[in-house]
Amino acid sequence: MNYGHFSDDGREFIITDVRTPSPWINYLTNGRYFATISNNGGGLSYDRSPLHGRITRYRINDVPPDRPGKYIYVKDLDSGEMWSLTWQPVGRDAPAYRVAHGFGYTRAEAEVAGIASSVLYFVPHDDDREIWKAVLTNTSGRVRRLAVTGYVEFALGHALIDLINQCDDQHFNRVHFEKDLNALFATKTYWVTETRGTQHQENKEWDRWAFFTVNRPVTSYETLRERFIGPFRSETNPAGLEHGLTSRDTDYGNAVGALQVGVELQPGESGDVIFSLGVIPKSDFERLKRPAVERFRDPAAVDSALGRVRDEWERYLGHTRAGTPDLDANVFMNFWIPYQAKVAFDVGRVASFYYWGIGRGFGYRDTAQDTIAITIADPAGARARVLLLARQMMSDGRVYHHFYGDGQGEFTRHCDDPLWFILAVTEYVKETADFGLLDAVEPFLDGKPGTVLDHLLAVVRFGGGNLGAHGLPIFGRGDWNDTLDYIGGRDGGESVWGGMFYVAMLNRLLELLEFVKAGGDRAEIREFRDRLAAAVETYTWDGEWYLRAFGEGQKKIGSKENRYGKIFINTQSWAVIAGLPDRKRLLQAMDSVRTHLDTPYGPKICAPAFREIDPAIGLITRCVWGKKENGAVFCHPAAWVVQAECLLGRGGRAFEYFRKLLPGRIDADVFVAEPYVYSQYITSDEHETAGRASHSWQTGTAAWMYRVAYDHILGVRPSYAGLVVDPVIPRSWTGFKAERVFRGTRYNIEVENPRGVESGVKSVRVDGRPLRGALLAPAGAATCRVLVTMGAPDEPSRGEVP
Ligand code: GLC
Repeated sequence: MNYGHFSDDGREFIITDVRTPSPWINYLTNGRYFATISNNGGGLSYDRSPLHGRITRYRINDVPPDRPGKYIYVKDLDSGEMWSLTWQPVGRDAPAYRVAHGFGYTRAEAEVAGIASSVLYFVPHDDDREIWKAVLTNTSGRVRRLAVTGYVEFALGHALIDLINQCDDQHFNRVHFEKDLNALFATKTYWVTETRGTQHQENKEWDRWAFFTVNRPVTSYETLRERFIGPFRSETNPAGLEHGLTSRDTDYGNAVGALQVGVELQPGESGDVIFSLGVIPKSDFERLKRPAVERFRDPAAVDSALGRVRDEWERYLGHTRAGTPDLDANVFMNFWIPYQAKVAFDVGRVASFYYWGIGRGFGYRDTAQDTIAITIADPAGARARVLLLARQMMSDGRVYHHFYGDGQGEFTRHCDDPLWFILAVTEYVKETADFGLLDAVEPFLDGKPGTVLDHLLAVVRFGGGNLGAHGLPIFGRGDWNDTLDYIGGRDGGESVWGGMFYVAMLNRLLELLEFVKAGGDRAEIREFRDRLAAAVETYTWDGEWYLRAFGEGQKKIGSKENRYGKIFINTQSWAVIAGLPDRKRLLQAMDSVRTHLDTPYGPKICAPAFREIDPAIGLITRCVWGKKENGAVFCHPAAWVVQAECLLGRGGRAFEYFRKLLPGRIDADVFVAEPYVYSQYITSDEHETAGRASHSWQTGTAAWMYRVAYDHILGVRPSYAGLVVDPVIPRSWTGFKAERVFRGTRYNIEVENPRGVESGVKSVRVDGRPLRGALLAPAGAATCRVLVTMGAPDEPSRGEVP
């Protein structure tokens, strides 16, 4: 692979050529403090919210991109030579640099001018700061006198206001250095907590102090960008490092923190320089500031905090293990897919190289989907997120499309949003058997009290009140596909996918309610579900696939009669996931995906892409063809294609799609985005930049691929009664191994496929004893050995709900 490769154990992605076609980033976070860092040291930092709690700037639409960041400059005081410990911002001698992205840390190594360096960036598990620990080693054979400078550019509070109102905003910055603490402190005396750009001047200050400190005595410092960078210069050649830092505080202007220390190294000697950037709440600032700035001055404390970060990730990732014959797939299934899923869960799609953290809060449907990946290893985190989702719901079942968690959010008329709540709840309860969640009381957004069960029933009422002429969900302002936003027209339109989705979610809800024998009028819900399923079957089959929607005046969308957008992916995969009864149609629908949508990069979201604007459909038709929702290989729904093929028992096809979608399979100069995580989409063959990926990291793809890989390909999935074993694999696999922690037991599973089948379980032995069926009841033991032999089943299948 150009530019880099995985380490032998798969736990690091090592970038050997830092001149990557786009910034290849990593996330450093403990779920409260967040930092992004690229292979060239670029990235932003925020506390809790990238909108309201922004610590540092990351310039939008900048040329060059990926600035500023977490920079450490080194200057040789004898020769005057200057470089940085990441290739950027100084940008000299790229081959001297090498960067490793690991789980929760990034390490930048270099050897420049006879100084070998390694900087480790991470966020401790229990402390809201980022640490940059640099170790410098003198490889030159002569004594070296170095000035080492750490540099950040502050935003201090509301990131959007900082951007659009900088001319006024800069008058509220306060930055000063405290000599006895060897630390610089920065805040803003004015803070906006609204989510939008606003003229409303709130009468309050940012509730935090940012601090920046280092473990050696500061010899000089700088607080103002105008003085550090100087006119007609950039981070590449800051004037302050040529002429000396002024060591002056500032109460206005573009606030920065630059701390310089001296390092003298004998030949062969190493020395460390440890920077910390973090936040302290103002409410307890005087008491907390000294312990905060002093905490990580000792390298042993840093190493133990890093050890904790590594342990936490191993614990999280250790809940699932895949040992398939496909070694590339294993690296992703074991590490990088669950890693990305957790990052997406923590970040909530709001901050990346593509998302600037200024425009949107957490998406309701996105959050519900992110949750399903996390239940496996962090049920408490998932439960908290389910309750957070409950709080974003009105008692009539409507939910905020986007929310900020502080009562702010936005209502839209998407027909699908509320029903995703069912997915999050059922997945959590299947994993944990915490049926008590249904009785947990959480207020609705309008203040009415209600249990989680009440919320679920509110969702059903929302669905029941949102049906159009064919008895399918009124499209409103979109469904899962946000860009089918004007299909509704005057009469609301109808979403065929929405109909399937409602059926699938009601199936899930009924399965839960029937298991606990409680809650709501199950017969009524069943009847509602059956009516929806009948409407889909009666009105939406287009001959070889299912329609996508009815537009205004019942115009068909996603039909062979259309010129563009004849076939859409989601109504084929979800017909299967919804468990529609006509198997012949389901097989044909998925075959149509294969015939009309599949490409060397994966299946497209729809085809042919729209090449004419149709205001009666919406944004999708305004988008360039082959990108985003207009016909790209949108990776998130591709996961549902894998799932659907598994549900049909076609393991070869399912795995072929899964494998195609794995990042890193396309030439990096074409793919552009990171080869170790999923992107939101890959440009399809309808555009000249075919193969180019965009919007990496923050996509629901990882959460779904994680679940689909384990639940449906390896086929080890939770159900209310226990763990189901039901692999659907390529015939060529003679077997595989898997591990899955479920309700406290680690299941060590070995699957044999002596007859080369794609699906079907012939027999199961648990700790040596034969089992009837393929359902492992909760074991209670710490570990449990399971031997599965595939073949024609001895027992009929259990019929649980996908
Ligand atoms: C984006 C949104 C997601 C939506 C998808 C398709 O990924 O975050 O909510 O479903 O686009 O429009």
